[in-house]
Amino acid sequence: MNKSTCKVGSNLRVLLEAINEVPYGTAFIEDDTNKLVGIVTDGDFRRLLLNGKSLEDQILKSDLGSFVSALKGENFESLLKKTNVKINIVPIINDKGELIDFFEYKHKTKFTPVAEPTLENKELEYLLDAFSSTWISSRGKYIDRFEEEFAAFCNVKHGVATSNGTVAIHLALVALGIGPGDEVIVPDLTFAATINAVLYANATPVIVDVDPITWTIFPEEIEKAITPRTKAIIPVHVYGQACEMDKIMKLANDNNLKVIEDCAEAHGAEFKGQRVGSFGDISTFSFFANKIITTGEGGMCVTNSEELDTKMRKLRDHGMSKEKRYWHDDIGFNYRMTNLQAAIGCAQLEKIEWILDRNDQIERDYIKHLDHLNLFKWQKTYRLNRKVVWLMSCTTEKRKEVMEKLVANNIDVRPFFYCLSEMPVYAKYSFSNKNALKISKIGLNLPTVKEVDYKRVASILAEI
Ligand SMILES: Cc1ncc(COP(=O)(O)O)c(C=O)c1O
Repeated sequence: MNKSTCKVGSNLRVLLEAINEVPYGTAFIEDDTNKLVGIVTDGDFRRLLLNGKSLEDQILKSDLGSFVSALKGENFESLLKKTNVKINIVPIINDKGELIDFFEYKHKTKFTPVAEPTLENKELEYLLDAFSSTWISSRGKYIDRFEEEFAAFCNVKHGVATSNGTVAIHLALVALGIGPGDEVIVPDLTFAATINAVLYANATPVIVDVDPITWTIFPEEIEKAITPRTKAIIPVHVYGQACEMDKIMKLANDNNLKVIEDCAEAHGAEFKGQRVGSFGDISTFSFFANKIITTGEGGMCVTNSEELDTKMRKLRDHGMSKEKRYWHDDIGFNYRMTNLQAAIGCAQLEKIEWILDRNDQIERDYIKHLDHLNLFKWQKTYRLNRKVVWLMSCTTEKRKEVMEKLVANNIDVRPFFYCLSEMPVYAKYSFSNKNALKISKIGLNLPTVKEVDYKRVASILAEI
């Protein structure tokens, strides 16, 4: 055994040489009687320097933390139990407390992503079926089926599949005739796609604050922001929470405004028993890979209006006339979804309720295992609504520490979106943002994947 030992009272330069001498980057510290009194890893060494020690200072007993050790003769299982992802060296001592050997074991930690799609046999089966049919572009049986079945899932009559959730919002705005000079009210706390789509339509976004409790667009702020130029509101059911659709629809009706629900993060959520996506003139969804169900990239507009459905189908396909091929009545876009994507979507839709239930269980497990740490305020649920769990959402005043600990342990974690109003490219469109600024700074998304080891997460965070 090549043990790197060092005496209490040696200066840090000697300690550093001892650490550098061995591949495992750890020095064992002994007192004058050769008794082991501590161990210092290269990480501990960096912390000593950060705490103000210099290379000429001595290493003192008071600099050393507690450490795990084993007695001569302990078997492999017992030694292994003393290691974990952070402790990979266990000194072995004799009955006088002298170092005689050490045990080294490196635990591999698997990366835990914040979200991952659940792709199984059905997805592959339908994908291969679409592939072998050779209908791999934007026509084929899966497109029609996905549009019909997803619209039915939302309790809406028509679905128009698109290449992603961002263009779905743009398509909705154009189909509703919104353009230059029109104001569109959007929430401050959302992904940038919502406001970008308004800007693609050459309309003027008006960013309003969110409710401090639900984090969704604040109806009172919408009301204050309405002007004669306001043409539409885009409520975003952010992080799976339904907006207050009764108040929003009343405001829209009273002021003759269109409503586009952005449901990218809330497939299956309900407001007072009614599915999101079924309130607005048009509602949009995203099927990006981290969403509740996915088609890789993909989106959909749903509507109860036959007229809007026809308009969107045309605009999605370059504004081409249905009756006269290659004759364009409008300047449209290529916003089509492929049959391959729709095939995956059909398989995903078959198990959406299972995914939503699984995510609800993940939320309950987080609360069960982490609540006692008093670090988190969990996202609110309301008895009459159905909140869906997209990512596990919470707020914490210790966000920096929580993120550092989890990332250091290979667990992915996301801060909430920056407020739109904070970013220079959007700041000039800000109307009100007080609550959003606060929530954005303390909001956090934890992983919603099946491999989450809640006990491990709890023990990592217990150190805070
Ligand atoms: C609220 C919101 N709107 C729109 C989008 C855009 O969807 P996509 O990424 O499919 O373009 C997203 C996606 O992350 C989103 O979170």
